[in-house]
Order: sequence, then structure tokens, then C-alpha cells
Amino acid sequence: MTSALCGCMTSILTYETYKSVVVRSWPLGIVYRLVQLIIISYFVGYVFLYEKAYQVADTATESSVITKVKGFGKLNNAVMDVADYIYPPQGEGVFSIITKIIKTDNQFQGICSEVTHSEQFRHTEKEFNCSTNADCQQHLGSVQADGIITGACNTSAGYCEIEGWCPAEDDKVDIKPMPEFVNFTIYIKNSIRFPLFNVTRANFPSTKTVNNCTYDKNTDPFCPIFRVGYILDETQQNVTLLANQGGEIGINIEWRCNLDHDVKFCVPKYSFSKLDAPFQNAKGYNFRFAKYYKTENGTDYRRLHKAFAVRFDVMVTGTARKFSLIPTVINVIAAVTSIGMGTVLCDLILLHCLKGAQYYKEKKFEEVSEEQIHESLTPKPGSQLSIRRGNSSCNDSGAVSLSTNC
Ligand SMILES: *[C@@H]1O[C@H](CO)[C@@H](O)[C@H](O)[C@H]1NC(C)=O
Repeated sequence: MTSALCGCMTSILTYETYKSVVVRSWPLGIVYRLVQLIIISYFVGYVFLYEKAYQVADTATESSVITKVKGFGKLNNAVMDVADYIYPPQGEGVFSIITKIIKTDNQFQGICSEVTHSEQFRHTEKEFNCSTNADCQQHLGSVQADGIITGACNTSAGYCEIEGWCPAEDDKVDIKPMPEFVNFTIYIKNSIRFPLFNVTRANFPSTKTVNNCTYDKNTDPFCPIFRVGYILDETQQNVTLLANQGGEIGINIEWRCNLDHDVKFCVPKYSFSKLDAPFQNAKGYNFRFAKYYKTENGTDYRRLHKAFAVRFDVMVTGTARKFSLIPTVINVIAAVTSIGMGTVLCDLILLHCLKGAQYYKEKKFEEVSEEQIHESLTPKPGSQLSIRRGNSSCNDSGAVSLSTNC
């Protein structure tokens, strides 16, 4: 009874540790240390230093953009100021600078004939030539016309008749775009907040006087005033074509802040992109708007503008990072665990590829057969397995114990 209790206590109050096989092999040792070195340098160099895995990142930024354009240009001998060429006028992050306007004056509600459209905007179904009413019947419901197709043919003009704002717009006129727009300046006010760290930054220091600077990525990279021509050069635009057809330009403001450093190093980086580059056949950008008037006797009429414009999209992206304990601990543990990968690889080499693999295998894995167990239970002097097993009755760990007497 007491001996059974004693045995039980002994087996509970033991510490088990793993037995190691030391292999004195230079090549294997080199491979082992090399693998460890690679793993350590991966974690230290890439995971910690490059990817900064010890930091937590905030990408859910709150940002606002206000823009203001300045400059004067001449279109059809008329001086254009901001109110004439900026659309919409509120100074948003997305705005257009109109470079060319085709105006259609004195449009009244009524019935008139279609016109030919300029080459650039001609679709096959957009041509409304006719000689009989039947030619026009097929265009009923067309969305390409300038008004509702009535189905009748105006034989004297040779075009289908429409009901809508008349006369129909003729965009074949050749208008020289406003060339001065390359000298306009765009002032961008951008503020960004990283809610996780409660840090707010502006794209220029409040102490900086910004009235007479111009952005240049080399000489003045923090000036918030951009010359349109500079942006177009950066995106390698054909300025003449752009002024004629319109286009889309992206102004990217990128914030990458490492808040482990002083917050004054949290500054924006500007870059510019051609947003309509993926479109081969649908290049350009234009839109229409109208201004409405009343005649003396109360009839409405309007002036239609077809505006070709360069549209600017100011896009803000931001990431802020700062040291945090949890990712650090997790990644350190991952690193330490991964160092053990060296053992797996070396074991494979040791047990399968090296000369004498069979011998190593025998050293590493001790095989116990039932016969031997039987033998060990009835020990003979001089037996190979004479290591005494603890007189265990509830020992379930199966470990060979080097026990002292209780
Ligand atoms: C832009 O400004 C420069 C210098 O002020 C001037 O030489 C140039 O002619 C201007 N460009 C256009 C298209 O007006």
C-alpha cells in the first residue's frame, strides 16, 4: 500500500526532459547553422526592419481636401476667370478645368432637324440622314439624337426631325482651346487624421507661407500650389490633345507615417497619374450644361455649353504605424518557433541523405518491442535493458525514468 503510494508520488513529482542526439558532422552543422541564419535574417531584416511587424497600422484615415484654382485664360477672345472655367465651383477634391467650350445660343423648345455630329462623336446610329419618313422611323427612341425623334424626315435638310431644344447643337465648329491653362495654379489644402493614434496632420505646416511657392518634387516638395503644366509634364500628357479632347488626371497624396519618429516627419508625398490611360477609344472628357434666360414675353430659352475639360481627382491615401506590444510578441514567438525549422530540414538530411543514415536512425529512435517489455518486467542480470523502471502503478507517461529510490 505504502509502496504503491510512494510510486505514484514519484511518478507525479518528476520532471521530463528530451534526450538529444549530438551529431558531430561538419557538413550537417554548416547546413544547420546556415538554415538558422537564413531564418533569423529573414525575420530580423524583412519582417522586423522592412515590414516593421513590431508596429500596428492605422489605415482607416479621415481626410478632407479643398482646392482652389487661379489663373486667367482667353477663349474665343474672351477672358476666362475661375468662375468661367472651374466646374463645380465649390473647390472640391474632384474638379474640372474647362479648356474649350462649344456654345449653342438661343435654343427654344420646338421642332427642328438634326445635324451631323463631329467625326469624334459619330456613332453609326448617330447619323440621322434621311430621304423618307421610313428612314427616320427606325431611329424612334434613339438616345443618340439631340431630342426626341418624331419619325418624320425634313426632306429639305435631309435629316430626321427632332422635338426638343432647337436648333440642335452643332459640335463640328472648330474652336481653339484655351492654351493658358497650363499656367493655372491649383492650391490644395489637405488634412488627414489617424483616429487610432489621434494624430492630425496638414499637407503644409501652418507656419509656412505658401503664397508664392510652386510645387516641385525636387526643390519644393511640400508646397501645396501646383502648376497645371507641371502636373501634365509629370504624367507625360500631350497638352494640345488634352486641351482639345479633355482628360482625367489623378493627384495622389500619400501619407506614410512612422509615429515612432517625431510627428513632424509625417509628411505627404505627391504623385500624378493619367487616369484615362486604360481607355484606348474613349479618351477625353466632356460634359454639357446650360444657362437659362427668358424673353420679354416670358418664353424660356437657353444657351447650351458643351465643355471639354481636364478633370482632376485628388486622392488621399494614408497609413500610420506605431510600436505595439501585441504584434511584437506574436512575431517574436513566430520567429523563435521558425528557427526550429532548421532541425526539421537537418533531420531529413541526417536520416535520409547522409552516409550511415541507418545508424543515426537507430540512435535517434529507440525501438521497443513487446518482447523487450516482457523481458524488462522479469529482469535478468546483464540484460541490455537493465535500466530500472520506477515501480510505477499509475505511471502513464511511458518515459524512461532515471529514478532514485523513494
Ligand atoms: C506661361 O507662363 C510663361 C511664363 O510666365 C509664359 O512664358 C508662357 O507663354 C505661358 N504659357 C502660355 C500658354 O500662356
